[in-house]
Amino acid sequence: MPDPLDDLLPRFSRAIETAFGAEHAGADPVLRRSAQPKFGDYQANGAMALAKTLGRNPREVASAIVEHLDLAGLAEAPEVAGPGFVNIRLLPDYLGAKAAELAGDDRLGVRPAPVAETVVVDYSQPNVAKEMHVGHLRSTIIGDAVVRVLEFLGHRVIRQNHLGDWGTNFGMLIEHVGDLGEDEATAELSLGDLEAFYRQAKAKFDADPSFAERARLRVVALQSGDPATLAHWRLLIDLSTRYFSTVYELLGVRLTDDDIAGESFYNPMLADVADDLVDKGLAVVDEGALCVFPPGFAGRDGKPFPLMVRKSDGGFGYDATDLAALRYRVSELGADRIIYVVDARQSQHFALLFKAGEMAGWLGAGTRAEHVAFGAVLGPDGRPFKTRAGGTVRLVALLREAVERAEAVVAERGGLDEATRAEVARQVGVGAVKYADLSNDRSKDYVFDLDRMLAMDGNTGPYLQYAHVRTRSIARKAAEQGVAPAAGTAVLVTEPAERALVLQLLALDCVVHATSEALQPHRLTTYLFELASAFTAFFDQCPVLRADTPGQRASRLVLTDLTGQTLRLGLDLLGIEAPERM
Ligand code: ARG
Repeated sequence: MPDPLDDLLPRFSRAIETAFGAEHAGADPVLRRSAQPKFGDYQANGAMALAKTLGRNPREVASAIVEHLDLAGLAEAPEVAGPGFVNIRLLPDYLGAKAAELAGDDRLGVRPAPVAETVVVDYSQPNVAKEMHVGHLRSTIIGDAVVRVLEFLGHRVIRQNHLGDWGTNFGMLIEHVGDLGEDEATAELSLGDLEAFYRQAKAKFDADPSFAERARLRVVALQSGDPATLAHWRLLIDLSTRYFSTVYELLGVRLTDDDIAGESFYNPMLADVADDLVDKGLAVVDEGALCVFPPGFAGRDGKPFPLMVRKSDGGFGYDATDLAALRYRVSELGADRIIYVVDARQSQHFALLFKAGEMAGWLGAGTRAEHVAFGAVLGPDGRPFKTRAGGTVRLVALLREAVERAEAVVAERGGLDEATRAEVARQVGVGAVKYADLSNDRSKDYVFDLDRMLAMDGNTGPYLQYAHVRTRSIARKAAEQGVAPAAGTAVLVTEPAERALVLQLLALDCVVHATSEALQPHRLTTYLFELASAFTAFFDQCPVLRADTPGQRASRLVLTDLTGQTLRLGLDLLGIEAPERM
């Protein structure tokens, strides 16, 4: 196995057992990569906690561990440092052998998950006849990265695009289609400007009481399945999803029409879900509405806060749909894990939903649900991102601008023909926006700043893409010179920069698994940035094509190639393309 921890940990358990007896064999040595090379490659801090349990001095405990620690074949004699740290420095031969192992593995050391689960990922979720805004951008990008990581680890992923395709808004939207006539409505909605259509409908609704009244009646007609009304409703959905598909294509995300399970999909299940909750004694009538009151939630007024199963007018809303979707995902889709990639402002909604799901017995027994919450995208002024006119910033417009600016960046570098340049600019521009989003701790807000996103240095998409490009160009040169390394080439770890690079390459498995558990893509971006930096240092300090000996050159070419493959795989898991040249 690639991760040195797999080799080190059993040796630690054995040492602890011999030193302190079998009852302490399970004590966690708290073994981590060292923050600085002077503390070795790995450092164990477990002696502190163990000392507390044993009522002994931590340094003494660390010394006792070291005395029994047999690291033959793995590391130099371990050292005790500071108050009781154990510092480990791996042997060059061991590191070289591990790196060579990686080079022969097309998963680059990443193990499949021990148990393959069925995972439902609810993401993107734009609203019909409304523009996709930057919040939907975040959900789409983060959700897609999460899906890719989970699939790579062998899980069965079911994507669910919980399209906002139902609700009282549709009264006014459908009425507006009727007023315009199908042809004109189609033309209007095909412009790729859903917001304009929505605004027109809303303006009429607000200004014209007779239109508002017709809209209200239209909601009733929609709910009772009136064919003409349904036809106009479908037109809205078709035109909107066609538009969303163009955005998905531009973004390069893996969402298709087959992944749509919109709010309306659950309509036939709502009454039954309400009955189920009543039968279980969980739903009660409160001021005419059927509500579930999960304990521990209070509104602003301090009163218990409900999930609304059925509104007092008899209608079902967002809460009811999510209750039905949850039950469906457990019982029909067989989910082991359900992931909701939604704005942090909906945290209370999901906390209530999950609690209700537990109370109903849908969650808990084998199925867990998680809200992958994310913060807001801010404008340059640090306030929620809006156009100058105060409207929603259009997602496509942002992406197009990013690609345009990337063209300039790529053109400045020169050397590509026009067709390649356009393709690379798309990869760089879209990649930069995605990377900037994914590299932030998702729970935090971030400022949308194209200049920074497109910078060629720092923790950016283009920097990583460029590091990959460099590895490819070295490989091409090696091939031209007829010195490409053969399979099974020995990896020699002599220079500090080589050691640092190998250690980083070996850590991929651990990082990908941590990313899938915490559902935090920024763990992977941080890793890739550190890898690219380690490669830059290696490249500065260790001549590759001009290495002293053919053996060293072959070894360094293997490390270069491994770096390139790891960057490419890592970027792919984030949904970012890695061009061959730029
Ligand atoms: N369409 C909603 C919005 O734009 C998000 C839906 C999130 N998913 C869910 N299952 N509630 O805010």
